[in-house]
Amino acid sequence: MLGACSGPQSALDPAGREAAEVATLFWVMLAGAAVIWLQVIGAALFGSRWQKQPISERGGLRIILWAGAIFPTLVLAVLLAYGLRLMPVLRTGEPALTVHVSGEQYWWRITYRRPDGAMIESANELRLPVGLPVEVTLESVDVIHSFWIPALAGKLDMIPGRTNRLVLNPERLGTYRGVCAEFCGRSHALMAFPVVVMEPADFSAWLSQQAARAARTADDGAFLANGCGGCHAVRGTEATGTIGPDLTHLADRLSLGAGMFENTPENRRRFVAETERLKPGVRMPSFGSLPEGDLDAIVAYLGSLR
Ligand code: CUA
Repeated sequence: MLGACSGPQSALDPAGREAAEVATLFWVMLAGAAVIWLQVIGAALFGSRWQKQPISERGGLRIILWAGAIFPTLVLAVLLAYGLRLMPVLRTGEPALTVHVSGEQYWWRITYRRPDGAMIESANELRLPVGLPVEVTLESVDVIHSFWIPALAGKLDMIPGRTNRLVLNPERLGTYRGVCAEFCGRSHALMAFPVVVMEPADFSAWLSQQAARAARTADDGAFLANGCGGCHAVRGTEATGTIGPDLTHLADRLSLGAGMFENTPENRRRFVAETERLKPGVRMPSFGSLPEGDLDAIVAYLGSLR
């Protein structure tokens, strides 16, 4: 049980301002619940073990009035006021950066909007500068998903036809894990993403590099000939598909398949060959029936996309 108290995906080990507020709210409520639980158990023991005389009807009514009505109303009112007080804190902040995230079955389309208006598309990995407020706008193209990075903030649903806004204030460098927190289909549990909080200078350098076209060292022939470019985009090539994740800088990402596997050549090969088996319900078919040479060439090409 204690394993949930820390690590890259723990709301109890906050690395952002919103998550810290949520964690404090949790501890305050837990302490309050513990005190009330002890009182209830104490009253039950007192009534069953030590209080041998029946109490008068007036006494009983008084207990119901104070312990059953006034006390819970006061406690809930105080907790409600405390919870409402947190809300403006969680909403304010002029963003230094806007990131648009769209939930898809079962991956994340992530578009960074730089202050100069340039849009940079990526997928399945979120990078953020430490100490700066980032506005995340959330949408969905198919069903309801929910965007949740427990270490940074509370969760917020991604609803088709509607844009929800979340402000993140990451305060600690590190790599965290975000997940989809709303059942969205067969591979709901396979819809996650790494979140990397970086120094602002490193983040700017990284974003500029992401804005560039892919630096290609391997041949894209097999990738294009087998139709991969119909669904995936690799900026600077004939691959301009928008159905699946943008692969322009795939080799730089930490994970494959939206947080499923480490991004290694063996895993890239497995994922391309056995997509439907590894991720049921995904829109990409498996390409395991391709000739070995084509599969090798595609995997080598994917590994060269930096
Ligand atoms: Cu997307 Cu669950």
